[in-house]
Amino acid sequence: MTRTVTKAIFPVAGLGTRFLPATKSVPKEIMTLVDRPLVQYAIDEARAAGIKEFIFVTSRGKGALEDYFDTAPQLEEELRRKNKTDLLKVLNETAMESGQIAYIRQHRALGLGHAVWCARRLIGDEPFAVILPDDVIAAEKPCLQQMVEAYQETGGNMVAAMQVPWDMTPSYGILDVDQVNGKMVKIQDMVEKPAENPPSNLAVIGRYILTPKILSALDSVQIGAGGEYQLTDAIAQQINGEGVHGYVFDGKRFDCGTKSGFLQATVAFGLARDELHDDLDFFLRGLYVDSDMG
Ligand code: G1P
Repeated sequence: MTRTVTKAIFPVAGLGTRFLPATKSVPKEIMTLVDRPLVQYAIDEARAAGIKEFIFVTSRGKGALEDYFDTAPQLEEELRRKNKTDLLKVLNETAMESGQIAYIRQHRALGLGHAVWCARRLIGDEPFAVILPDDVIAAEKPCLQQMVEAYQETGGNMVAAMQVPWDMTPSYGILDVDQVNGKMVKIQDMVEKPAENPPSNLAVIGRYILTPKILSALDSVQIGAGGEYQLTDAIAQQINGEGVHGYVFDGKRFDCGTKSGFLQATVAFGLARDELHDDLDFFLRGLYVDSDMG
């Protein structure tokens, strides 16, 4: 069984209602952290991990996403004429080769498991990654790359894992840990959004490496938490088969599916930019002084 992972699914069909009214006309994945759309961070991470084929599961109203990955001949021509080579380079870094990227519509909002299932014919019989662009992870070595390397040893299925505050466990897929081996945890059960009695506070974060068996499990998975077909439930079925590992990644994760998480990521990624750091740092320190006085 090959352990090379070259395909990744990006489920981006969500309505983004938490960000209304902005998401009335802008897909959430195109909203920017500093100057790059959320989805660009996910693509960069996938590329670093060796992904060559990018499969987007979209929905109505996500046209801006397809345009984003298209070439922009007029803009490029204009930049060339004005000799703006630095900006041309920025554009080039976002370019996708024809045929590298595919879009599949999820016609009904039936959950993450259903979204992944929609891409089944493009995956075929090989392991694949799933990246949820809402989960933005700042790390020296990109999170999916860490996982792909660990996966060479384990095979099977792997999910990114992170401890969350106990009161947040009802918002996540939660892992029931069998054995801990450094950053790798062997899973004996997992449960999507437990309303009570979570087996731990180790949560699934939106990075997965999955075997194609997941796709057949999704054929028959029952409706789960929130009345949706859950990816977690299909993965849990593999625990006694090919196995499931959690990988406690190095890095800082931002939940850009929430306003607070998005703002935190904006500040953190802004501070990480040389050209913005000093200004922003000065401004933030000023805010603290003002609030101390206030
Ligand atoms: C999804 C998954 C959940 C996981 C979470 C991570 O939930 O279903 O298992 O813990 O992503 O962000 P969502 O946030 O889409 O409700």
